[in-house]
Amino acid sequence: MLTTRPSFVFFLLFLSLPLSSLSQPSNPVYNSFLKCFSEKTKTPQAQNVFSQSNPSFSSVLRAYIRNARFNTSSTPKPTLIITPRSYSHVSAAVLCSKPLNFVFKIRSGGHDYDGLSYVSDKPFFVLDLSNLRDVTVNIADQTAWISAGATLGEVYYRIWEKSKVHGFPAGVCPTVGVGGHLSGGGYGNMLRKFGLSVDNLIDAKIVDVNGRILDRKSMGEDLFWAISGGGGVSFGVVLGYKVKLVPVPRVVTVFRVEQFMESGAVDMVHKWQSVGPRTDRNLFLRMLLQPVTRNKVQTVRATAVALFLGRADDVVSLLRKELPELALKKENCTEMTWFQSALWWDNRLNATQIDPKVFLDRNLDSSRFLKRKSDYVATEIPRDGIASLFKKMIELGKVGLVFNPYGGKMAEIAEDATPLPHRKMLFKIQYSVNWQESSPEIEKGFLNQSRVLHSFMTQFVSKNPRRAYLNYRDVDIGVNDHGPNSYEEGEVYGRMYFGKNFDRLVKIKTAVDPGNFFRNEQSIPTLPSKA
Ligand code: FDA
Repeated sequence: MLTTRPSFVFFLLFLSLPLSSLSQPSNPVYNSFLKCFSEKTKTPQAQNVFSQSNPSFSSVLRAYIRNARFNTSSTPKPTLIITPRSYSHVSAAVLCSKPLNFVFKIRSGGHDYDGLSYVSDKPFFVLDLSNLRDVTVNIADQTAWISAGATLGEVYYRIWEKSKVHGFPAGVCPTVGVGGHLSGGGYGNMLRKFGLSVDNLIDAKIVDVNGRILDRKSMGEDLFWAISGGGGVSFGVVLGYKVKLVPVPRVVTVFRVEQFMESGAVDMVHKWQSVGPRTDRNLFLRMLLQPVTRNKVQTVRATAVALFLGRADDVVSLLRKELPELALKKENCTEMTWFQSALWWDNRLNATQIDPKVFLDRNLDSSRFLKRKSDYVATEIPRDGIASLFKKMIELGKVGLVFNPYGGKMAEIAEDATPLPHRKMLFKIQYSVNWQESSPEIEKGFLNQSRVLHSFMTQFVSKNPRRAYLNYRDVDIGVNDHGPNSYEEGEVYGRMYFGKNFDRLVKIKTAVDPGNFFRNEQSIPTLPSKA
């Protein structure tokens, strides 16, 4: 006869317990947070709170680490990760964290280039919003509700499910999160026609420092303005945005054409500066510059990558006239739907054949070593300046540049319409370096290369202040210790990201979060208190 042994009973009991309750031994911070969180949400909430002793802690943390530089054993880890499943969970997380005095990091898609959503050198919590991912598309009124934890790929897919003639102007990487991307401005390859993502906002929801869930009406126009490009993290937890969809044609055209330094690339890039920002606003013509070895010789490759909201014949005849140096031919072009063009821009060259569902893949726990920086160009760089830039890139050997044209709709929007003031610039530069090896020495070398190139570019880029794009996070331009000099420290990077709009952001910050609960290394400071 089969008898039930005590060890087997224990095993059954073990299986019936929630995993998290087994693995979080006496930990005063965890216990205190969990007690408060469970009371406020009126349910036991252990499954949404992870301390470092939880076996799932590492996988939850790593899932949305997108820069491998911050995925090492020596990278500081949060004391708790909280993964809310509802707005009331977010509200409870804010209220229960406040008395514990930890830095409160907010993460949606985890694409912050310097890892500010999941790393801190002070004790910290991570509020991970990846479970709040609803996207609701309403074609009748041409709007969508997009939750902070949704990815851009999910947004594009859900629009495509409902309509082949609507899109949304946002970034080109499908795993970028809505929460960071939209609160920091958000741009993509339709910016010349429709502006930034934040130029297409209707409403938003946020949890403020008092745990209140506010919409545009209840938060007021100041706070709504601030979270439309000023970075959500300084003001509250953004839950999501209601956005206006934009019309796209049934057929669009993409192409990629390469040239090299020794065969006309200097002239082509020089001329591009007067065409990219001024041409037909249906055309977004990006220029990628990369030092490469070709036929055993060091050179620079200039790659023109384009989205044209129209047919191939039209863009070929347009560019034959405006930029003959590119030598664009119809064979270089592919016509497809707008959604397929989003896949193509994500380097899926077989975009017309692959399953659209690939955009629902969040590609968890995938990261590479990288550094990014940014600049803006207000006046064209002379031809010999482009030639000297190519020479410098070859000398450095690794850092690439991306020139993103502005103009069109961007130039028509007032500099204070949203916190991002760089509306009249000709183009934005992204400095880009990726590498494979986990080595402090290699990292130091590549970070240094990007800084040297940034310093070399001083002569060609915007001045007083030199401008930068918040979503191309770069802690090299200044960080805030949130001590007595917080305002002065904040002004350094704040003026670069926001220009004169920094002043309004500081006033709003001071009004909505005077205790500076919502902060990170580059958040908006409060006004200094008068002694
Ligand atoms: P993440 O979760 O790391 O958040 C970024 C910042 O926003 C952090 O400070 C975080 O605390 C804060 N935050 C996040 N969610 C919040 C919320 N709900 N409430 C308040 N604060 C919140 N940009 C662009 O404009 N166009 C582009 O095409 C691209 N392409 C691109 C490709 C790749 C591969 C990467 C890694 C990045 C980009 N970006 C970009 C930059 C991207 O827009 C930027 O990193 C966004 O801030 C990322 O938002 P996530 O939510 O993914 O990041």
